Amino acid sequence: VPSGIVPLITIDRSASKPLHRQICDAYRTAIVDRRLRCGQRIPSSRVLASELGVSRFPVLNAYSQLLAEGYIEGRSGAGTVVSRSLPGEGIARRPNAPGKTDLKSGPRPASSRSSILRPVPPWTQARGTFAVGQVATDHFPIHIWSKLVTRHCRRMQIGALSYGDPMGAMDLRECIATYLRTARAVRCEAQQIMIVSGSQQAFAISAQALLDPGDSIWIEEPGYRFAREAFATAGCRLVPVPVDDEGMIVSSGISRCRKAKAALVTPSHQFPLGVTMSAARRLQLLEWARTSGSWILEDDYDSEYRYTGSPIGSLQGLDCDSRVIYIGTFSKVAFPALRLAYVVIPPDLVERYRGVRIDIDIAPPSFHQSVLADFIREGHFSRHIRRMRMLYGRRRKALVDAISEEFGPQLQVVGEGTGMHLAVNLPAPFRDYELAERAARHDLSVLPLSRSYVGKDSRQGLILGFGNAPEHETRVAVRRLRSLFVSNRK
Ligand SMILES: Cc1ncc(COP(=O)(O)O)c(C=O)c1O
Repeated sequence: VPSGIVPLITIDRSASKPLHRQICDAYRTAIVDRRLRCGQRIPSSRVLASELGVSRFPVLNAYSQLLAEGYIEGRSGAGTVVSRSLPGEGIARRPNAPGKTDLKSGPRPASSRSSILRPVPPWTQARGTFAVGQVATDHFPIHIWSKLVTRHCRRMQIGALSYGDPMGAMDLRECIATYLRTARAVRCEAQQIMIVSGSQQAFAISAQALLDPGDSIWIEEPGYRFAREAFATAGCRLVPVPVDDEGMIVSSGISRCRKAKAALVTPSHQFPLGVTMSAARRLQLLEWARTSGSWILEDDYDSEYRYTGSPIGSLQGLDCDSRVIYIGTFSKVAFPALRLAYVVIPPDLVERYRGVRIDIDIAPPSFHQSVLADFIREGHFSRHIRRMRMLYGRRRKALVDAISEEFGPQLQVVGEGTGMHLAVNLPAPFRDYELAERAARHDLSVLPLSRSYVGKDSRQGLILGFGNAPEHETRVAVRRLRSLFVSNRK
């Protein structure tokens, strides 16, 4: 419980009620209303007297009255705290049940944009085997990370306490620019890079910087729910464009809505199907963007982990017309709690993005940016990616082998050997939602593929994450999954 916070007490010097009674009544009301909670420490009489601008006597008087009535008590080592057991009437008023709001008047309007967001079923957020989006955090070099954190804490300068650059710390942006030019064939300079708190913020800023409410945006069908929702809540009209084994079907996008202002794609590793966008489709997409004056948002979230075939460069690297906004994240190559990602912005849009950024949250928090810059500069980052690529490659193979051995031709893995999840087609009569819900009760966190579709015409399948699924557990877990296919147990 935070300590030393002074409660909101107003006193009226001109009132006939003595000051100690005013203070005492204010405390009683705050405790009964549960603004002050059991065990919460109350400020010393000296601090409260100084905050209220009164002498200590009325405060001491009020405190001794509250002690006598049992509202507060002395706790050794913890000063004076609100009592655990309150006198009878003190607990009369119960707090609202979580999720319930006291409504004395009629309904209060909220934005229709925010009602687009459907609740996320709790079982889809479970952390069981095969949970999507989980990384092998136990393999992250946390000892090195904490050493760097300690180093930065020790060296903390007063200057680091002020607002940082809205684009992010220059040393980190330099590191990212070098990395992207070298490993992802992205055409960029550090000045074009903005540090954001996760790709999610990159989507939100891009929506504001590039699109107006009512503008259309192509999204992949199936696609990544949280990205498309960022555009939907910005008022954009989502145009689902089907994906086949070459990625987004550009001709279908053109026939559905040629004039869309933007296209949101995952060309390196389509989410969730796992296919890589073919060279022909990439060129077609760039050509469409050029001729229709549209933007392409390239979400390159996990392409560092590619296990088969030759490396595939970014779509941004093929673009000669500054149409592509490139978005990358440290959620997979470091850890998701870091909440650090980046956007590569065409040079003439940088000022616009900077303005929107200031409008949203002024600037990114600076501390972990400096730690991450050192982590990259000192070679830990590239070493970690190399190690994890091998580990995840083994985990993917273990999962593909186990699926093939346990299910035979019944379940087909789709997509390429990239990233940290894979999708499987589900044959009739199985329903992915039912299976996934049942699996969650057996500590298996698979996602229903149909949930990644906006339209009704969805494919049945399961998405399985293997990032946090050690090889020695995979076989048993897949067998457990198979048992759900044959049993009627709910
Ligand atoms: C398609 C896709 N894009 C981006 C991300 C990363 O999001 P963030 O950087 O906000 O953690 C994920 C994470 O699972 C993803 O699946």
